[in-house]
Amino acid sequence: MLGKTRIRAYVFLLLHGHCKYLTQANILPFISNTDKKNHEKPPDYLQMIPIEDLFEDIIVKTMRGRSVTEQQLAAKTGEPRDVLSRLCRGEFCDEGALPKVAKALGLDADALLVAASKAWYPRAVILEGLEQFNTPYRDMRVNSFLVFDPEAKVGACFDTGTDCSPMVKKAEQEGISVESIFLTHTHNDHIADLNRLKEKTGNPTVYSNRAEPWPSTTLFDEGDTFTIGSLQVETRTTSGHSCGGTTFVINGLQRPVAVVGDAIFAGSMGGGIVSFADAWENNLKKILTLPDETVICPGHGPMSSVREEKKHNPFFAGEFKQA
Ligand SMILES: [Fe+2]
Repeated sequence: MLGKTRIRAYVFLLLHGHCKYLTQANILPFISNTDKKNHEKPPDYLQMIPIEDLFEDIIVKTMRGRSVTEQQLAAKTGEPRDVLSRLCRGEFCDEGALPKVAKALGLDADALLVAASKAWYPRAVILEGLEQFNTPYRDMRVNSFLVFDPEAKVGACFDTGTDCSPMVKKAEQEGISVESIFLTHTHNDHIADLNRLKEKTGNPTVYSNRAEPWPSTTLFDEGDTFTIGSLQVETRTTSGHSCGGTTFVINGLQRPVAVVGDAIFAGSMGGGIVSFADAWENNLKKILTLPDETVICPGHGPMSSVREEKKHNPFFAGEFKQA
C-alpha cells in the first residue's frame, strides 16, 4: 500500500508535469565546476544526474498535452491498446510501434527511439562563472544555479533549490558577492529555500516575472535586462509550464547561458500545465533560436545545449531536420 507521503509526491509530480520514475537518492547534493576542473575528465557523479524524463514520460506528457487518449492513439497508429499501454508504462516492447506513436503525437521518431534506448546523455558542461546545484525534493531533485563574473566577483542566484547551503558555500569560497536572486518560476521546489538564501546572501534584490509575481519581490517584464558585473541578462517569458515561467539568457561568459526553469529539459520539456501549445512554441521560438553553443540550465536533470536539444529532444528534433 502506498504511504501518504508517497501519494503526495505522486500528486505533486502529476500536477507539476514531472512524470518521472527516477532513483536519484544517491546523487551528490551539488555539482561544482571547481571540482570538475580538478579532473581531466568529468567525475562520475556528473553522469549521475539522470535525464529528467524517460521515453514513456515524453509519450504520456504529449498525450496529455495534445489531449490524445490511448483509444485515439490506437486508432491513429493501428497498434493494439495493450502495446500502447506497455509503452506508456515504460516497456520498450515493440520497436516498430514507437515510430508510429511518435508520428501520431508529433514527436521525432529517431529522437524518441534514442530516448527509449537510453543511448544519449548530454555532454558535461564546464564553464567558468556557472555552477549547478542539485538538491533533493521529496522523491525528486531540483536544480539551482549560481552565475558570476569571475573578474568582478559579483554573482546572481537563479532559483534556490531546497537547500541553498551548497550555493552559499560556493559563493563564499569564490569570494562572490550575490547581488540578485532571479526566480524562473514559483513552483515550490524551485523557491523552497528563498528566505534562507536571502538571509545568507545579505538580502539581495529578488526578481520575479510580473506574469507570475511572488510576494516581496521586484517584478520584471519580458525583455527587461540586468547586469551581473560585466555579464548581461535578458529575460524571455517562456510560459506554458507556468504562467510566467522565465528564461534568463546570460551573455558575457565563454558561452551563452540560458537558465530555463522547467521550460525545457535535456531531452524533454516541462509539463504544459498552463498550456502545452504555449510551452512548445515558446521553447521553439525563444530558446532553440539561441546560438547552438548556448548552455541550457534546466530546473531538473543535467545541463544541455541548444545544439544537442535540436538533435536529441523528441519534442523538437523534427523541426530542425533538413528536408
Ligand atoms: Fe515547475
